[in-house]
Amino acid sequence: MSEKIQAIRGMHDILPTQTPRWQYVENLLRRVMGAYGYQEIRLPIVEKTDLFKRSIGEVTDIVEKEMYTFEDRNGDSLTLRPEGTAGCLRACLEHGLLYHQTQRLWYMGQMFRHERPQKGRYRQFHQLGVEAYGMVGPDIDAELILLSYRLWRDLGIDRTLRLEINSLGTSEERSRYRERLVVYFKEHLDALDEESLRRLETNPLRILDSKNPDLRAIIAGAPSLIEALQEESRAHFEGLLSRLDRLGLPYVVNPRLVRGLDYYSRTVFEWVTDALGAQGTVCAGGRYDGLVEQLGGKESTAVGFALGMERLIELLLNSEALDAAADPDVYLIAVGDEAEALALILAEGLRDELPTLRLQMNCGGGSFKSQFKRADKSGARWALILGESEVLEGTIGVKSLRGESEQAVLAVGDVSSHLTSLLQR
Ligand code: HAM
Repeated sequence: MSEKIQAIRGMHDILPTQTPRWQYVENLLRRVMGAYGYQEIRLPIVEKTDLFKRSIGEVTDIVEKEMYTFEDRNGDSLTLRPEGTAGCLRACLEHGLLYHQTQRLWYMGQMFRHERPQKGRYRQFHQLGVEAYGMVGPDIDAELILLSYRLWRDLGIDRTLRLEINSLGTSEERSRYRERLVVYFKEHLDALDEESLRRLETNPLRILDSKNPDLRAIIAGAPSLIEALQEESRAHFEGLLSRLDRLGLPYVVNPRLVRGLDYYSRTVFEWVTDALGAQGTVCAGGRYDGLVEQLGGKESTAVGFALGMERLIELLLNSEALDAAADPDVYLIAVGDEAEALALILAEGLRDELPTLRLQMNCGGGSFKSQFKRADKSGARWALILGESEVLEGTIGVKSLRGESEQAVLAVGDVSSHLTSLLQR
């Protein structure tokens, strides 16, 4: 036997037993997007490498060491998208979608990062991304946070998630702050680890994001970015917080929240949980006003977030109802040549009459016993039974596979109305 080829490490199949949960969550997300007037955009999975270098930032973990970059047959450097914000903005600029107008958009799909795989961290993962363009004030920041909060509530996981929020100010405010931060950390060089020493030269704000517990005290003593904000950024941040206060939406201001991508300005936020171990950030985003110009557009504003679908689905409690959502309602058993032929016709007729009915037909023959076994395994609630005697009499048997009702024999013409009443139970 030849050797089996395995999937790539960190890239997972989503099996038929798991897809009902995915479909449930995807449908719910789509519904909520519609409720807030957001429209779907579908984007390529591969983009020019420069797009990510220019937007995410050269000195970030993603661009430095996590991108799947390759040269295509024309010699162009291409990259599997590590996130969707850059591609979404590229598409909007390319198609003039931001010209004198606002946009509210969402996308869903695979992203690729060459990270060290562990629970909740994969090399291929899925995000729902939401982006809003051309709206200046903090009301749109608040709307996005409310939208995400509604997702948690509708999924029944709002109690497990905590909103952390910060402002990174404008790029000018940040570069002034960066200088102060470098001075501070240079006074504590001995206490820094290797990674932080490197970041001190390249991206000192990321030291605040370090997960090394030995650095906790040093980081806690660092100057705060929020205190370095000037009037306009401060007003934006306070405007957002006061809106959240009036809505009664709880949050924690975390002055150390800096995010791993360079394009952010002003508001940043994350929804985090303690229920997933080390990979506790389920959803993250913020404002990235400068990126529009940086990618060749006219000055405009932008804000958005992305949630990790694998982490979100992992948070949902086990629920039989969720997992059974894709099981058929009915399994059609047919024994004998004539019964098999009639069963195809009957099944098509029932699907015409009852478009929401989920009917699985037995294919490939078999005795009554083996077909009943398959019917049971399919998860169906009822079996329809067509054997030689039923064919002769023009009838069909209906049997509950879950002990919900007695077995019945019906005239073929009555099956559809009988199933309608069974489905309503
Ligand atoms: P991000 O923080 O890099 O932001 O990713 C957002 C979410 O994607 C994370 O909070 C996490 O749930 C999920 N995620 C990220 N990496 C992985 C991974 N390796 N395995 C599983 N899940 C993962 C962004 O991507 C920004 N584009 C968000 C954004 C949109 N900002 C503005 N608009």
